[in-house]
Amino acid sequence: MEGAWSACERRVSVKALMDCARAQYLLASALDGMAEAQRDNRLLSRAITAYLQLLKNNERLSDTKLVMVANRAIDRIKFRGVYLNAEPIYRLLIRRFPNEVYYRNNLTVCFLMANRVDLAEEVLKETLRLWPDDRVALGHYGFILKNTHNKHEEAVEYLQRALEHESGPANEPRFYYHLGDALLLLGRLKEAEEVHKRGAALGHFLSPSQRSLYNVDRLKGRPWWPIEDTPYVQLARALEKSWREILKEALAAKALYEKEKEGLSEKGWSQLDLFVRGQEIPGRCKTAPVTCSIVRSEPAAAGCRRGQVKFSAMEAATRVRPHVGPTNCRLRMHLGLSNTQNTFIRVDKEIRQWEVGKVFIFDDSFEHEVWHNGTSPRLVLIVDVWHPDLTAKERRSLPAI
Ligand code: LMR
Ligand code: MN
Repeated sequence: MEGAWSACERRVSVKALMDCARAQYLLASALDGMAEAQRDNRLLSRAITAYLQLLKNNERLSDTKLVMVANRAIDRIKFRGVYLNAEPIYRLLIRRFPNEVYYRNNLTVCFLMANRVDLAEEVLKETLRLWPDDRVALGHYGFILKNTHNKHEEAVEYLQRALEHESGPANEPRFYYHLGDALLLLGRLKEAEEVHKRGAALGHFLSPSQRSLYNVDRLKGRPWWPIEDTPYVQLARALEKSWREILKEALAAKALYEKEKEGLSEKGWSQLDLFVRGQEIPGRCKTAPVTCSIVRSEPAAAGCRRGQVKFSAMEAATRVRPHVGPTNCRLRMHLGLSNTQNTFIRVDKEIRQWEVGKVFIFDDSFEHEVWHNGTSPRLVLIVDVWHPDLTAKERRSLPAI
């Protein structure tokens, strides 16, 4: 209780106490306390091992104590980012509390966080066999049907059932988001709009059209930003001034472009990242020195940990379906580079066109879509910058996206 962690650790680590549950608990707590005080991940790993050891002998723990220890151990495992290590703890909780669907759903989430959709799906099938109406499980199953199996109609059915009531544990922003998105994918626009309105009314979205999920609530939201209303006039003018050199760099690096990965367009859209999450892709700026040096002159661009800097190429006849970005913490600058005729972008309700050598700025947390009715590949430079309303502290401390 006095925080004398190492003294505690020494006392409880003696051989004679090896089989004593209370000593094991104190050992784990002491290591945990020490790890936290010294911010030491090796100590934390030892604490986790000690918790797991204690949980192995769980018959001796009361229900209350078991839940307490399990929750702390899971919390520490998540903090370390090794989600799969929490699996045996969830299995144990499921065995001890077989009538609680809650622990099964948390195991599902744990597998999803670990990118093990296959394992999540296994748990979900069993959960839904035992609790066919559990809304959290229905929501997750709908999410997997949509995102992993591309079964959008079925996904809609599951997600709709998950959201039949407007309260309870399934009433989550991401289920509203994916239900609306699945409906958009199916072209059921009226229904999508209804879901987006409902989600916004419940506070899950900033507004029906601004549906990013990682937000700072007080930030001003507007779809299109006049450059003069931002602190990024200098950056915009510098990009415009050098557009020819930037175009040259964009073309010279063509072999490195990668297909867009989020499934927003079937084909025809490729990109080359220069900065991601506020960091240069190692060595990438050698291929685009002028572009990078201009970006580096604005810390809110080069250091935007919730955005990217990238070249974006789009073949003629490409269509990017309506979608939203993940966060309202960035604004997105585009510099038109080539073949912008007959290419269009809609953000919220307003459609605009790129112009070669010109910058515009929009907020991609609002619904937007792109279509290319021209004949040659369109090229633009995308530069994400921190939303101007964010404080210096927020720019330093918000988790990267
Ligand atoms: C988007 O951000 O979705 C598009 O505007 C990207 C692009 O290249 O136009
Ligand atoms: Mn987008």
